[in-house]
Amino acid sequence: PNPPVIHNFATTDALVDTLANFLIKTQKDAIDKKGRFTIALSGGSLPKMLRGLIGNPATKWDKWQVFYADERAVPLDHPDSNHNLCTQDLFSKVPIPKDHVHTIDVSLLDDLEELSDAYEKELIREFAQKDAARFPVFDLILLGMGPDGHTCSLFPGHELLAEEDRWVAYLEDSPKPPPKRITLTYPVINHAAKVIFVATGEGKAEVLSKVLDRPEEGLPASRVKPAFPGQVYWFIDAPAAAKLQQQ
Ligand code: 6PG
Repeated sequence: PNPPVIHNFATTDALVDTLANFLIKTQKDAIDKKGRFTIALSGGSLPKMLRGLIGNPATKWDKWQVFYADERAVPLDHPDSNHNLCTQDLFSKVPIPKDHVHTIDVSLLDDLEELSDAYEKELIREFAQKDAARFPVFDLILLGMGPDGHTCSLFPGHELLAEEDRWVAYLEDSPKPPPKRITLTYPVINHAAKVIFVATGEGKAEVLSKVLDRPEEGLPASRVKPAFPGQVYWFIDAPAAAKLQQQ
């Protein structure tokens, strides 16, 4: 895999602007090539970092197909739902067609295994037939990272770190509440064309130096290594970068 590309910004506003430009360029390249743009989004602080897209005339929302990198097993209008968060912070403010946002909806299937199977089928419909040789290739996956180095709902030491087959998995023992979640797995993340991590604030400084300077420790975020020619980018701010050896 290619080494990560690190973009370190003096301010969050500068990060937000460059991130929006990066997304628009990636969107354009994808649409020019195949007429659509496939992206997966996380929750946490990430949706607010996409505010540079709001009102941006270069954004072709009707060509976006949005999936969730992870979701909590709560109703879609619950304060803990990543979809709820993304709707509040972004989708309610832009003209994206509702059926282009692929939700993970516990009100339709409350068995988590069935729910993850159903989401996997939704990915298969969008991307490919599932067989040993083929994986979905997202144009872009946008991830956050927790202070313990988790990303998506892939937590340190968890058995899902070893998942090689399923595209979508569930867990009932997330150390970060709420405990029940659905998540994309490494086979999906590590076949993406581009993955961007966004990490800001001093609360991320310690773990960022572990993930980038000591990847051999194998924290979940360090295991994001898309197969060549895939590329990981880190969009970080100065407080998060404070403890990095490599800049
Ligand atoms: C979730 C998120 C999770 C998040 C990280 C970072 O459902 O909890 O998708 O993976 O991205 O925990 O969260 P912050 O950006 O809030 O630090």
